[in-house]
Amino acid sequence: MLPNSRCETRPPFLVLLVTSAQDQLEARSTIRQTWGRARTTHGKRVVTYFLLGYSREHQEQLQNESSLHKDIIQKDFTDSYYNLTLKVLMGLEWVDRFCPSTSFVMKTDSDMFVNVDYLAELLLGMNRTNIFTGFVMRNFKPVRCKSNKWFVSEQEYPQEKYPPFCSGTGYVLSADVASRVWNISGIIPYFKLEDVYIGMCLAELKIEPVKIHSQRKFHIGKVKFSVCKFRNLVTAHKVKPYEARIYWKALELAANEHCPGDRTA
Ligand SMILES: *[C@@H]1O[C@H](CO)[C@@H](O)[C@H](O)[C@H]1NC(C)=O
Ligand SMILES: *[C@@H]1O[C@H](CO)[C@@H](O)[C@H](O)[C@H]1NC(C)=O
Ligand SMILES: *[C@@H]1O[C@H](CO)[C@@H](O)[C@H](O)[C@H]1NC(C)=O
Ligand SMILES: *[C@@H]1O[C@H](CO)[C@@H](O)[C@H](O)[C@H]1NC(C)=O
Repeated sequence: MLPNSRCETRPPFLVLLVTSAQDQLEARSTIRQTWGRARTTHGKRVVTYFLLGYSREHQEQLQNESSLHKDIIQKDFTDSYYNLTLKVLMGLEWVDRFCPSTSFVMKTDSDMFVNVDYLAELLLGMNRTNIFTGFVMRNFKPVRCKSNKWFVSEQEYPQEKYPPFCSGTGYVLSADVASRVWNISGIIPYFKLEDVYIGMCLAELKIEPVKIHSQRKFHIGKVKFSVCKFRNLVTAHKVKPYEARIYWKALELAANEHCPGDRTA
């Protein structure tokens, strides 16, 4: 399934690719109505698409959803956690084939809150090429404990340490980097942890993660909501659909309020 993108006639500035599971309809509806709403911010177009694999049980409903919203990218691999790398590569392939004229691509998940306006503002101050940014994980070792969700055997990954990577909760690539990652993925053996896999591709390409700001803007855990806190972050994790709606409404209502240390307009 392909979305309706209009990339050739109106290239977006930022494409948000949100990994989603078949039964997360409520999360997708919420994202469409809140932070993922297609819009223009700082004069730049931002669009959101959802990445899904196949599950027979929900396919008809998903087809209906796709014909209504035209924002779903799907291929016929089994939708499962250890196929997440396939899902993200599908997104990068889509950008490479159908939307290479975008400036940036963000990969994120459906339990995140993304402050897209602030992200766009920060990206406007950056180079348009060679960018890979997010919450950087350095010197991480494979988990060798079998009962762990992130267990990795020595056969899957014999080395002691992972290359630097950005947490899969939210990372941003410039479009050239997205295309190069997709291109090189053909020769990097499959690895089930998606964010580590992207790190492996980038290590091969010799691209280092960069900082988007001197302060932390990508949060990989839950962040206690306040208008001023959320105005100044890019991602917060573990956000339920009803919470995303409350946060969104609060941010809208407080649009004219000032926060300590506000950036001057
Ligand atoms: C999908 O749409 C068709 C046609 O509108 C409808 O008959 C069908 O019940 C819908 N299926 C689901 C699962 O929503
Ligand atoms: C990933 O998808 C492929 C293709 O559908 C399937 O054969 C495989 O079993 C899936 N892997 C996992 C771990 O679900
Ligand atoms: C942008 O790219 C130029 C040329 O490659 C480089 O000199 C400069 O440091 C880069 N700026 C940032 C903020 O990364
Ligand atoms: C893709 O990879 C091939 C070789 O593996 C290389 O020749 C080509 O320049 C690459 N294209 C891009 C866009 O990086």
